[in-house]
Amino acid sequence: MKIGIFIPIGNNGWLISENAPQYKPTFELNKQITLAAEHYGFDFALSMIKLRGFGGKTEFWDHNLESFTLMAGLAAVTSRIQLFATAASLVLPPAIVARMAATVDSIANGRFGVNLVTGWQRPEYSQMGLWPGDEFFGNRYEYLSEYIQVLRDLWATGQSDFKGAHFQMDDCRVSPRPQADMKVICAGQSDAGMEFSARHADHNFCFGKGVNTPKAFAPAAQKLIEASRLTGRHVSTFVLMMVIADETDEAARAKWEHYKAGVDEEAVAWLGVQGAVDKKADSNVRQMADPTSAVNINMGTLVGSYESIARMLDEVAEVEGTEGVLLTFDHFVEGVEAFGQRIQPLMKSRLDALTPVPSQVGQPALDLSVGAAS
Ligand SMILES: Cc1cc2nc3c(=O)[nH]c(=O)nc-3n(C[C@H](O)[C@H](O)[C@H](O)COP(=O)(O)O)c2cc1C
Repeated sequence: MKIGIFIPIGNNGWLISENAPQYKPTFELNKQITLAAEHYGFDFALSMIKLRGFGGKTEFWDHNLESFTLMAGLAAVTSRIQLFATAASLVLPPAIVARMAATVDSIANGRFGVNLVTGWQRPEYSQMGLWPGDEFFGNRYEYLSEYIQVLRDLWATGQSDFKGAHFQMDDCRVSPRPQADMKVICAGQSDAGMEFSARHADHNFCFGKGVNTPKAFAPAAQKLIEASRLTGRHVSTFVLMMVIADETDEAARAKWEHYKAGVDEEAVAWLGVQGAVDKKADSNVRQMADPTSAVNINMGTLVGSYESIARMLDEVAEVEGTEGVLLTFDHFVEGVEAFGQRIQPLMKSRLDALTPVPSQVGQPALDLSVGAAS
């Protein structure tokens, strides 16, 4: 099973809590985390795009770096890990994204791919006068389907004459083209989002569900299998999970309860309002704001000892259609370290990742002390 890391491009990662680690996103922090992930054999790192935060006492996600420029910096300091940036398709014309992706591909020597999002939170775009109106909720994926056809034309041939309802190209050119096949992620969960993934994407990312229920996302993986059966394409599922680990189940559970006790109600309330704007939403936009576990936007959460986490991650790997898991941590620096040293060696589904490649044999271990990565 592949392992990715959803790097903390926004402040405080994915915990909306006064009791969770409080930190701002910086290049240095993301570099330290990504280098550690690379050292431990993680397959890829992904950063999201978030243009407006939720406020509250923790100023949740009010502080966010930009995804492509962050990944370009990381591309220059890494050598093996695959990198993905997220394109906010409403505010970046596809011909610009095609060229930015070709540029990062050049920096990364072919280790780059793109996560395409339609956007689901109106204020991110209305604040800059770029929200097309609420009818966009209904035609987001038609828009994105045209968008990706322009991208695919430009990446494959360097030229596009695509003519659609949203985009009209007129002998549009992009050169140089990416040196490697540009992989595209979509995290759509609605029927339209899944159909888009089945038709156009390489991977569909979905939210895990519940606490210590590692297979609860299986219906989403199944939905993708059915959607891709209709298109005849192979598209794999990756599931998003937060790991909260410690020496014992009790110690990990105590941390989780502590984070929940400090939930930033004001920030969570804002998410609730935003999640309800799209009246017809049939997907995880609603799940994120559900009161059950709004403290980490209701992403699937694995809480337990290192042994318990390894066992549950192996269960994730058993779900049909699943190629990998995208991890977040309560504390990213300690979390990646604990994953690499304590969890991964216990995972049956990672045995292949633990076999050292010849070029790594004999290399000194990476110094992961704070500041060492700079
Ligand atoms: C792993 C993951 C990453 C995502 N990244 C972003 C992002 O960077 N920006 C964004 O606006 N939405 C992001 N989303 C939301 C999805 O793109 C999508 O809109 C959401 O899952 C709801 O599905 P739907 O669009 O089909 O309704 C992400 C979702 C997941 C599961």
